[in-house]
Amino acid sequence: MSESKPNQNAGSQRNQRETKKMDPGERQAQQRAAVARRMSQVKRKVMVLSGKGGVGKSTVAVNLAIAAGQAGIRTGLLDIDIHGPSIPKLLGLEGHRPDVRGNDIQPIEAQENLKVMSIGFLLENRDDAVIWRGPMKYNAIRQFLAEVEWGELDLLIVDSPPGTGDEPLSVVQLVGNADGAIVVTTPQEVALADVRKCINFCRQLSLPVLGVIENMSGFRCPRCGNVTDVFGSGGGEKMAADMAIPFLGKMPIDRRISESGDSGKPYVTMKDGLPSAELFRKAAVSITRTEREE
Ligand SMILES: Nc1ncnc2c1ncn2[C@@H]1O[C@H](COP(=O)(O)OP(=O)(O)OP(=O)(O)O)[C@@H](O)[C@H]1O
Ligand SMILES: [Mg+2]
Repeated sequence: MSESKPNQNAGSQRNQRETKKMDPGERQAQQRAAVARRMSQVKRKVMVLSGKGGVGKSTVAVNLAIAAGQAGIRTGLLDIDIHGPSIPKLLGLEGHRPDVRGNDIQPIEAQENLKVMSIGFLLENRDDAVIWRGPMKYNAIRQFLAEVEWGELDLLIVDSPPGTGDEPLSVVQLVGNADGAIVVTTPQEVALADVRKCINFCRQLSLPVLGVIENMSGFRCPRCGNVTDVFGSGGGEKMAADMAIPFLGKMPIDRRISESGDSGKPYVTMKDGLPSAELFRKAAVSITRTEREE
């Protein structure tokens, strides 16, 4: 395992010279002000979270972002999964490097109305392991939020690593007024138990839960198209009802979804992805409209 050499300070050399001269407190205050300035141009900031790993957060984040862009919503997708950034792969953008103009890092334009930034674009080698502790992660995320030139956006979707650790907490603290979270779960009780913790994490941070998506809800047979309940189905929907949270929809296990992720062509862009495209389009429109709960 090699320690990563992320091109973390992707800002200009001028920026680096200025950074050297500035004391750390001053630098942090300047970055916090920059975060506030950038985020004031973003109408809605929504985190994709789950208590559990591998339930499909990144898949949901990517398909939601594509569907939002297609619906004319100016969308940004920020991947803060520092240890396992999967957004470049899922969008077929591996190997892309962001441009730096002045002190601004330009996000990658994945399609009309969709800008993307991921730690994965800054790693020298995609198999590098990132060995960063809490404060380094916080600094990296602050830099993302301060220096990435998103411009005006209707929606910024933040794809998070599993759990309720440093990364989602950093975003919530730095953004200050995130509009809410979409929580992804699978239907089994063992996933739901962790997801309830995640919902309580949101509540402790006064982050509204905008909705739950139940992924891997049954298995769609590639031959006949029938859906069989392998892990059961409806657990996420019931939990949403019990916890008084909007339910945004279900997506079955479907080989085409994992194949589309592996090939970097998101499912909602495929002809047979239309039912899911409709789920994500509705979810995108609904989260862009939902008012922040006070
Ligand atoms: N409904 C589905 N049907 C088939 N495969 C799926 C489905 N949802 C997700 N997958 C696949 O499952 C794997 C895990 O999905 P994904 O990376 O989106 O999960 P994650 O929650 O973001 O994981 P992590 O916790 O590691 O960030 C991927 O290979 C993805 O293509
Ligand atoms: Mg992920």
